[in-house]
Amino acid sequence: MRMSPVFACLALGLALVFGEGSASYHRQTQAARLTTDFGVKVFQQVAWASKDRNMVFSPYGVASVLAMLQLTTGGETRQQIQAAMQFQIDEKGMAPALRQLYKELMGPWNKDEISTADAIFVQRDLKLVKGFMPHFFRLFRTTVKQVDFSEVDRARFIVNDWVKTHTKGMIGDLLGEGAVNQLTRLMLVNALYFNGQWKTPFPESGTHHRLFHKSDGSTVSVPMMAQTNKFNYTEFSTPDGHYYDILELPYHGDTLSMFIAAPYEKEVPLSALTNILDAQLISQWKGNMTRQLRLLVLPKFSLESEVNLRRPLENLGMTDMFKPNQADFSSLSDEEALYVSQALQKVKIEVNESGTVASSSTAIIVSARMAPEEIIMDRPFLFVVRHNPTGEPGRGGSTAPCPRVSSPQTPVQTGVDAPSCPSP
Ligand SMILES: *[C@@H]1O[C@H](CO)[C@@H](O)[C@H](O)[C@H]1NC(C)=O
Ligand SMILES: *[C@@H]1O[C@H](CO)[C@@H](O)[C@H](O)[C@H]1NC(C)=O
Ligand SMILES: *[C@@H]1O[C@H](CO)[C@@H](O)[C@H](O)[C@H]1NC(C)=O
Repeated sequence: MRMSPVFACLALGLALVFGEGSASYHRQTQAARLTTDFGVKVFQQVAWASKDRNMVFSPYGVASVLAMLQLTTGGETRQQIQAAMQFQIDEKGMAPALRQLYKELMGPWNKDEISTADAIFVQRDLKLVKGFMPHFFRLFRTTVKQVDFSEVDRARFIVNDWVKTHTKGMIGDLLGEGAVNQLTRLMLVNALYFNGQWKTPFPESGTHHRLFHKSDGSTVSVPMMAQTNKFNYTEFSTPDGHYYDILELPYHGDTLSMFIAAPYEKEVPLSALTNILDAQLISQWKGNMTRQLRLLVLPKFSLESEVNLRRPLENLGMTDMFKPNQADFSSLSDEEALYVSQALQKVKIEVNESGTVASSSTAIIVSARMAPEEIIMDRPFLFVVRHNPTGEPGRGGSTAPCPRVSSPQTPVQTGVDAPSCPSP
């Protein structure tokens, strides 16, 4: 895939967002809106942080892995996720509504090729909470895959290979070297593949280099496609009064479309739009569109981006899961303390005259707490030698004036800045 020059914030969410119209009953409409809104909220955080870089994001992927994560967590950790997503995945009717939604999206009547899959990989010998596996299966219809993460390279290969298969080869290297280690216990992964042909392709002869205005005011010459057609089009204004155009570019199956929006004036940053985006606004765009003759000029591009989701998720209130001392994974296992050590997403997209090919993979990696909590006696400490059978102090209590190794197992740095102390 040939990479495009930096557009500087062509923040194009691979917004596989659900249109509310596609849903056939209330529960599904609500599920569609909630997952879209959550994904878009994360997208906003990512867009905000990536300021002047190209960015593609899959709101769908992140909503998918966080829904799975809900089931593994407990206490405050789970409440934080549910508060951010505004739904509980094990609430009655929620999981079936989501499944139905995916089915609709993936249905054979949808001529654009789209597929998505979820996977859960668990350390083989991790003792799971009783009933976790059947419960997980009931909600997600995905069996828990057991792997041995201590065989680091093999485990990495298994996960990367699964992602590669489910993105038709587009993402073959989700986990870099070092992503799996001896402490890895769980991975939640979503993969998504989309290949849609435009309902009306752009004529290849119409593609020419033109200037693209970057957000920093500079310009770059990029190949741009052009098409004159009757498009669904509308114009809205942001709460601050900036006008922007929205245009719909349908794919040939007629169930999916790309919505393209940009502020009318070049000086207005794209964040004026990304900041106000949500499922309802996208519905309003669609609802207010009318067919109008327009000449559309759109860059032909391919982008690849990798996003660390930690900050964006933390900014949305999901902080405990990242804290080794606070994360609560008691719904998965109470054998050892676990926490989210990494949350990432990789996306690739190519947009050209014939259509769009895109893939994303989102993963959450859960690890055992690093090492046992450290207790370092690097200040004056008390030691008591006690004769356990009688409970009598052997030599009485005393404070050690110098750092001393009180037991052979305690790793203590000694004598570094206490030169008068004899080394033990
Ligand atoms: C415009 O929107 C209508 C209503 O949703 C739809 O039926 C039609 O296919 C759309 N046409 C184009 C060119 O996007
Ligand atoms: C969109 O349409 C609705 C009703 O069809 C209308 O109430 C609303 O003002 C319109 N919004 C914009 C920004 O034109
Ligand atoms: C567009 O990209 C797809 C995927 O890379 C490719 O198969 C197709 O031939 C491209 N079309 C054009 C017109 O370049």
